[in-house]
Amino acid sequence: MSRIRSGRHIGLIIVALLGNFCTGALAQDAANGERIAKTWCSGCHVIDGKVPPVGRTDVIPSFPAIARMKSTTVTSLRVFLGTPHTSMPDYNLTQKEIRDVSEYILSLRD
Ligand code: HEC
Repeated sequence: MSRIRSGRHIGLIIVALLGNFCTGALAQDAANGERIAKTWCSGCHVIDGKVPPVGRTDVIPSFPAIARMKSTTVTSLRVFLGTPHTSMPDYNLTQKEIRDVSEYILSLRD
């Protein structure tokens, strides 16, 4: 009984991995970025569209607001997040984490 069950699980894992390599990569990155945002950024920034797109304070822009700015691109986010800012803690995010969180922010653009 339990052997059959675990066999099915392995099948599901293989399907999940294949999906990841084919079409899911971008969505996957944005989902990981959302996790990073929830963990590291949500203390200051409003990080999703579920709350009204008004920053928690006047100086800290919400992620949807950042996404709406014309000047925001994957590159501008990478540069911003890759350099130290006095007003923002330095999380030493890896290049992959920066890309994922940038992907997530840009996914909020409507
Ligand atoms: C301690 C509070 C704090 C935390 C935590 C924080 N930020 Fe910020 N963030 C700020 C403030 C304040 C500003 C606006 C001042 C500035 O531009 O330097 C800002 C600005 C930004 C901007 C630039 C918006 C623009 O005007 O171009 C981005 C992008 C950003 N934050 C992303 C992040 C990400 C991603 C994280 C999590 C990894 C994060 N922030 C965590 C306080 C914070």
